Amino acid sequence: MSITSQNSSDVPVIRFENVHKRFGSLVVLNGVDLDIPADQTTVVIGPSGTGKSVLLKHIVGLLRPDSGHVYFHGRRIDNLPEKEFEPIRKRFGFLFQQSALFDSMDVGENIAFPLRQEGGISEAQIIETIHEKLSIVGLAASERKMPADLSGGQRKRVALARAMAMNPEVLLYDEPTTGLDPIRADVINELILKLQKQFKVTGIVVTHDMASAFKVADHIVMLLHGKIVYRGTADEIRACPDPEVQRFIQGRASEAELDALDRL
Ligand SMILES: Nc1ncnc2c1ncn2[C@@H]1O[C@H](COP(=O)(O)OP(=O)(O)OP(=O)(O)O)[C@@H](O)[C@H]1O
Ligand SMILES: [Mg+2]
Repeated sequence: MSITSQNSSDVPVIRFENVHKRFGSLVVLNGVDLDIPADQTTVVIGPSGTGKSVLLKHIVGLLRPDSGHVYFHGRRIDNLPEKEFEPIRKRFGFLFQQSALFDSMDVGENIAFPLRQEGGISEAQIIETIHEKLSIVGLAASERKMPADLSGGQRKRVALARAMAMNPEVLLYDEPTTGLDPIRADVINELILKLQKQFKVTGIVVTHDMASAFKVADHIVMLLHGKIVYRGTADEIRACPDPEVQRFIQGRASEAELDALDRL
């Protein structure tokens, strides 16, 4: 397995240094080293339950490491008290795995929520932001709809509009295309590309959807057994000789998994 280091001397936007995290006896992160370069999209792949969402939550301070360090633009953040973390968290947008819209609020109110929480933003500015973000995600006419009346793909796009409300520098996308048909999934892929190209957003995309990964990634990293076991471009990962990486990207079950089926 190869872990190719980054090309430039630029300080990465985010750096994980030997991060460990366990829940009781379950070791989830077991020495993660990872650099996230600026203005590019890094895709994190890995089997279900391997700790990808846990990894993202360390970036925004929803979880703290047991040991190891997390840096943002070279500044250590994993040990910051909550009050000092708050201004940093505002520079991140988080598209949660379950969209997590507020069901009692309409689409516009959902997008306005982080702006109202921030305070000091005029109503006119809030309305302008709602319209701007909804038009970016292609839902300009949906401002007054309730989340329950939207399809899964539309909910994801509203959640993305909300994640963009504060013009984040870094966007974290947790399974942005899961559960969507291939066309809706591709709309999300195009949005991720657009945000990166037009708005220079640094993206971190967690996904099992390899079509999406290959389309949006500047770099792909694979999390396995608590560590980053591979880092490369889409072409490099396609050519990676490691059987576990190949099995994952081709969606093939292992011998052990097939043997278990035979025993049924
Ligand atoms: N707050 C928590 N308390 C206890 N265990 C947790 C907590 N958060 C995550 N875990 C456990 O950590 C492991 C990794 O979870 P995580 O959600 O990061 O997986 P994942 O790679 O995102 O999986 P999926 O692809 O299914 O979303 C799982 O076994 C999960 O049950
Ligand atoms: Mg997850």
